[in-house]
Amino acid sequence: MAFGILVWIFKETPRNRITTYPVYQIQQTTTVMKATKGKLVNQITETDSEKLKELFVDGLKDIYWAEKHLAKALTKMSKSATSEELKAAFEKHTTETEEHAARLEEVFGLVGEKAQAKKCAAMEGLIEEGEEIISSTDKGTMVRDCGLIMAAQKVEHYEIASYGTLRNIARTLGYSEVADMLQITLDQEGETDHKLTELAETYVNEEASAE
Ligand SMILES: [Fe+2]
Ligand SMILES: [Fe+2]
Repeated sequence: MAFGILVWIFKETPRNRITTYPVYQIQQTTTVMKATKGKLVNQITETDSEKLKELFVDGLKDIYWAEKHLAKALTKMSKSATSEELKAAFEKHTTETEEHAARLEEVFGLVGEKAQAKKCAAMEGLIEEGEEIISSTDKGTMVRDCGLIMAAQKVEHYEIASYGTLRNIARTLGYSEVADMLQITLDQEGETDHKLTELAETYVNEEASAE
């Protein structure tokens, strides 16, 4: 208790009244966390930093597993796609995905950790969804392409969320080079997502003009 500091956050009630309540206690720290109207401004403690690094490395292992399995899944999706444009988009992103895994290996090295994959249940499920689309749609149809785009965009959104958070944590931990590397991957995931949206819109327009 000697070094314990009770942390409070301030929260606006629906009636615009400010109330306070205890959230948690940080032991053995000299850091004071301040809060202003729901916005936490904090300085990271040594204990927090260690825990955050654990969370960061765990996140790296998760996305590393995902990237390694995605490369295979994307190859299958490319072979199964109907339009040449969608095939090309999947092929391009397969190469990028292999680069993402290699970049993560560099990141592991930069933070002093061994590159290790940890099974990502969420990505396993998303990959299964893509396989279901292939088995439940007819070859050579636009419906299959729409389904593949939907499955692929779910994957990209998972990656975007993961890399965005990992980049932010890397910055917080002072790994600026790592943050920049994760940003490169994040940008490619974002570009892929936009490309898939463009292709989906093309199909919708083609369908409309055929009516
Ligand atoms: Fe990726
Ligand atoms: Fe991706």
